[in-house]
Amino acid sequence: MRGAHTPLIVRSRSPEQTRAVGAALGSVLGRMGPAGMVVALSGPLGAGKTCFVQGLASGLGVRGAVRSPTFVLVHEHRGAIPLYHVDLYRLTSHDLDTLGLEEILDGPGVTAIEWADRAGPDVLGAHLGIDVGYGEGDDDRVLRFTPRGDRYHHVVKELAACACWE
Ligand SMILES: Nc1ncnc2c1ncn2[C@@H]1O[C@H](COP(=O)(O)OP(=O)(O)O)[C@@H](O)[C@H]1O
Ligand SMILES: [Mg+2]
Repeated sequence: MRGAHTPLIVRSRSPEQTRAVGAALGSVLGRMGPAGMVVALSGPLGAGKTCFVQGLASGLGVRGAVRSPTFVLVHEHRGAIPLYHVDLYRLTSHDLDTLGLEEILDGPGVTAIEWADRAGPDVLGAHLGIDVGYGEGDDDRVLRFTPRGDRYHHVVKELAACACWE
């Protein structure tokens, strides 16, 4: 039996499946209403963090294509619940001072942060950690969901109950 504090582990075998897992999370978060939610993604380059956020966006029903940000660190996607897509890959300490990340995190939208570990542990607060790693085959990925805070335990429970990406 899965204990309440065990991370949820999901295996993906294609980009479509990773998007489907992201979409499932998006609909879970969408059902919870416009309370600020933070999704912190980690994992190596090319693992599938942006791919996951594409699914998350569609599950939330937001508009606009989700891409890897080039020069901007934050993309806002408008919808019933706005999605803030943050990528800290190119973060400098100067950016962290001027980015206003705390304001975004405290806002009513869903904030998905790639390379979240670069923000430092004090900035994030309660969040859902998602580590995206490589699996055995070229297209195999392992998604590990770790809730930090009560609300996120609930989110992971709902997500595990849905399992609609299989
Ligand atoms: N199961 C999978 N899940 C996600 N991406 C996959 C998967 N299999 C292959 N890929 C490929 O891996 C790459 C992931 O890219 P991207 O989402 O931009 O990674 P990241 O944002 O972590 O750097 C894409 O080219 C995608 O097609
Ligand atoms: Mg990316």
